[in-house]
Amino acid sequence: MAGRLEGQGIIVTGAGRGIGAEMAKALAGEGAGVMVADIEAGLAQETASAIEASGGRAVPFRVDVRDRAGNVAMVEAAVRAFGGLDAIFNNAGIAQVRPFLDITEEDWRRVMDVNGLGVLIGMQEAARQMIKQGRGGSIVNTASIAGKQGYEPLAHYSASKFGVVALTQAGARAFAKHGIRCNAICPGVVATDMWKLIDKGFQEIGATKQDNEAFDMFAKTALLGRGSRPDDLAGVAVFLASGESAFMTGQTLLVDGGIVLD
Ligand SMILES: NC(=O)c1ccc[n+]([C@@H]2O[C@H](COP(=O)([O-])OP(=O)(O)OC[C@H]3O[C@@H](n4cnc5c(N)ncnc54)[C@H](O)[C@@H]3O)[C@@H](O)[C@H]2O)c1
Repeated sequence: MAGRLEGQGIIVTGAGRGIGAEMAKALAGEGAGVMVADIEAGLAQETASAIEASGGRAVPFRVDVRDRAGNVAMVEAAVRAFGGLDAIFNNAGIAQVRPFLDITEEDWRRVMDVNGLGVLIGMQEAARQMIKQGRGGSIVNTASIAGKQGYEPLAHYSASKFGVVALTQAGARAFAKHGIRCNAICPGVVATDMWKLIDKGFQEIGATKQDNEAFDMFAKTALLGRGSRPDDLAGVAVFLASGESAFMTGQTLLVDGGIVLD
C-alpha cells in the first residue's frame, strides 16, 4: 500500500535526535523523502541511517538554523535530492532554565536566535521555494506549551515559543494565496535530552532536588496521566504534512496529553 506522503520532499530541522528524529522517521515511513537537518552532523547521519535501514529515504544535512546561507543551501539540497520541497518542519530549538531576574541579554539573544530567528529564516526560505514551485506546501513549526503559557524559570524560552506561534499565524496570512499552509505543534513535556537539561536546570536553581522531579511535576498535570514520548508527536506531524489537513492553516495544535487546555 502506498504511504500517505509518497513522492513528497520534506525537511525536518533538529532531526538528529528527540522529537525531530521521531517526526522524520514517521514522515519517511509514509513514503516521504526526508532531509534530516541538524547542527550536529553526526546525529543527522545517525537518524538518516536508521531511516534508510528500515527502507525509507533520507538525506542527512548539517545546518545551523540561525544561518541564512545554510538555510538556502538546505532547501537547494532538498530540491536536488527529492525533486521539490513539499513541507518543512522548523523543529530545531534550545531551552535554558534561569530564574526570571537572572536572565541576561546574552541568554535572551541565544534562545531567541535559535527558536525565533531560526524559525523565521526557515519559513522564509521554504516559502520562497514553494512559491517558485507554484503547488503550495506545508510549513510546520514546533512551538510548545510554553508558547501558550509563560513559565517562570523559562521566561525567555516561553517568549521565543510565543514568537513561534506569532510567526505561524503571520505566515499563514502571508502565504495562503500561494496555497502554503502554516501550522504549529505544541508539545508538552517530552522525555528527550532537552528535558534532561531542563530537569538539571530546575535542580541548579533549587526548585527541585532529584533527577526527573521537574519532569514528573509537569507530567502529573497531564489529563492523560503521563509525560510524553517523542513518538507521541509523530502522528500529528504526518497529519500536518498530508492532504488530510488541507483546509487547516494558522493553527496551533497542543499535543501534550492535556496539560494546557486551549
Ligand atoms: N522536550 C520537550 O519537552 C519539548 C516540549 C515542547 C517543545 N519542545 C520543542 O521541540 C523541539 C525539539 O525538542 P527536543 O526535546 O527534541 O530537543 P533535543 O535537544 O532533544 O533536540 C533538538 C535538536 O535540535 C538540534 N539543534 C539545536 N540547535 C540547532 C541549530 N542552531 N541548528 C540546527 N539544529 C539545532 C540539536 O542538535 C538536537 O539534535 C524544540 O523546538 C523544543 O523547543 C520540546
